[in-house]
Order: sequence, then C-alpha cells, then structure tokens
Amino acid sequence: MAKAFVGSNPTPRTTASPFSAWGVFKSRGGGGLQQHDKVYAKPSGIDFIGVPAMKIPENVKTAYMVALKYRRVSFGTCSKAGVPNTVPIGVGRFVDEETLAVVDNYLNKSRKNLEENPRAAVSFWVSEEKDGKVVTKEGYQMKGTTTIHESGPLFEQIKAETRAIRTDFPVRAIVLMKIQEIYDVKAGADAGKRIL
Ligand SMILES: Cc1cc2nc3c(=O)[nH]c(=O)nc-3n(C[C@H](O)[C@H](O)[C@H](O)COP(=O)(O)O)c2cc1C
Repeated sequence: MAKAFVGSNPTPRTTASPFSAWGVFKSRGGGGLQQHDKVYAKPSGIDFIGVPAMKIPENVKTAYMVALKYRRVSFGTCSKAGVPNTVPIGVGRFVDEETLAVVDNYLNKSRKNLEENPRAAVSFWVSEEKDGKVVTKEGYQMKGTTTIHESGPLFEQIKAETRAIRTDFPVRAIVLMKIQEIYDVKAGADAGKRIL
C-alpha cells in the first residue's frame, strides 16, 4: 500500500494538532489513487481535501508537458508556518484526467512542506522565439492538494519510466497533485483569470 502524508492547514486560525491520525482517504478519481492511502494528519480549518478535483482540459495538459520538456515549470509549496517555496521541476506526467504526478528526485524543502501542508501550485508557460523576441504563447497556473507515495503500482510504474530516461535519478517518491483550480497567467487581457 502506498504511503501518503497529509499535513495540516497552515491557516493562522488553525489551532488543532497538526498530526492527529485522521483515517483513510479515498480519491474519486481513477488511476493510481484507487487504493486507500493512509493519512497521517488531519487537515484542520478548511477541509480542502473535500474540494472536488476537476477534469484538466487537454490544451492545458499539452501546455504543461511542453513546458516541462523545456524546463519552464515552477512548483510551489508552503510550509505550515506560511513560508513559500518554489523550485524548477522537469519530471512527471498526468496520471489521469485530474491528477498530476511530480517526481521527487531531489526535493527537500518542497517535500517537507508537502508533508506538513499538502497543497501545491504549478506555474508553467510555453514560449517561442519570433523575430528575435521570446513570445509566450500560453501560460497557466494549477493548484491542488497532494499525497506523497513511496511505493505502490503507480509509484513503481513512474519510477521505471523515469529510470528509463535517467538511470541516475533516485525517484524517492511521487507527489500526486489533484488539480482543483486553473488560472490563465499569460500576460494580457486574460492574465490571472480563473479558467476552471
Ligand atoms: C530545470 C530543473 C528541473 C528539475 N526537475 C526536478 C524534478 O522534476 N524533480 C526533483 O525532485 N527535482 C528537480 N530539480 C531539482 C530541484 O529543483 C532542486 O533539488 C531544488 O533545490 C529543490 O529545492 P527544495 O529544497 O526547495 O525542495 C530540477 C532542477 C532544475 C534546475
């Protein structure tokens, strides 16, 4: 059974103990989250686990994979105390219609943040050079809740896929991110608009 860590909500109003055992979390989605995963902490305050995930539009998925290829993805997390962190990521893929997998090879602060606060955001963009200028074609921000998996069939599958490309990557875990909000971040009239 895959191991998952879910931390507490960092909202300042939170007073409950961040690491009381909470029970079992079963996702609504398909893919690797069908199994029951142990949850080690109760998210107090807003029950963000209850926020429904969404079907990610194909054009957003495609933009993400292109951005990942060209290393234009920033992965943001936040500590329980509210300290933000963003790092570049370049490995992963979508595992179903609503879930993104990020491969933890070398995540440190990010990983710690996710263990205590299971929420993340990714910003990514697709650019091309035109007449000597770099022009952004599209860019999005996705936010969601996360679980960390160090074992299980999906973990093994993504580990094998990753190792097929880079034998030296440790693949310590996969972070599964259920997407709950998507925004347009391309500069212009629609900048910042929530699209889903
Ligand atoms: C272009 C690029 C892509 C990267 N992709 C990943 C990745 O997919 N997974 C990973 O674990 N680390 C990746 N890294 C390394 C992390 O960003 C790096 O270890 C970072 O220091 C982790 O920071 P943290 O301690 O704040 O989590 C990448 C680094 C770069 C520069």
